[in-house]
Amino acid sequence: MLSIFSKKKVLGNFEFIGTDLHNHIIPGLDDGAQTMNDSIYLLQGLEGLGYKKVICTPHVLGNIYPNNPSTILPAFKLLEQAIKEKNLNLELEAGAEYMADEFFVEMVQQKKSLLTFSNHKYILIEMSYLATSPYLEECVFQLILDGYQPILAHPERYNYYHKQPEKYVLWKEKGCWLQLNALSLTGYYGKHVKQAAEKLLEAQLIDLLGTDMHHAQHLEALQYLCTTNNYRLLAQYPHFKNNLL
Ligand SMILES: [Fe+2]
Repeated sequence: MLSIFSKKKVLGNFEFIGTDLHNHIIPGLDDGAQTMNDSIYLLQGLEGLGYKKVICTPHVLGNIYPNNPSTILPAFKLLEQAIKEKNLNLELEAGAEYMADEFFVEMVQQKKSLLTFSNHKYILIEMSYLATSPYLEECVFQLILDGYQPILAHPERYNYYHKQPEKYVLWKEKGCWLQLNALSLTGYYGKHVKQAAEKLLEAQLIDLLGTDMHHAQHLEALQYLCTTNNYRLLAQYPHFKNNLL
């Protein structure tokens, strides 16, 4: 594929990360891949970048993306079948990205069946980009009590935290792991998100690296990251826990 980035020197790949735990690659469930062809294209891209395992995490978001195990698992099975037919050398697992809203806190309190991953230990949650969630603390507390490891997705993208970095430390102290979006390091989401991502990495507050891949532009930006100085920054802080997943 022709790319405006194709002339830059590639410094490495994501083999050292191994597992992607955050993406929207199952087709037709949310604002990510829409067709099986889209999904295969993105998975081939991840394989090419050195990934060995992909944990698929469609949005679960109120009435906007009302996903649950009965929508996600059948679609996931079809995707697994398709990658076998294409001979992709990737292990796949199904999870979800739960919005920490009133619906989710109720599911947690009522101990409803949740899409966790890696031996049912880990669960990925997010907040709105507009405002902090009043439910996150209760969710994190209850999930830990129930034996799960909550992971907060893309903390660097919550602009309302940029001027209160103590919040990141607070969530870590409450037992939440933090997952950085690799694309944040390219400036894809803007300068302030990039700066927040760099600071979080340098402060060694990040536990996991995710792609949050939705579409081909994200794949291209991930490939571009491998040609930038921030790829070196990632490789300098090899404390990620992705290989535990
Ligand atoms: Fe996501």
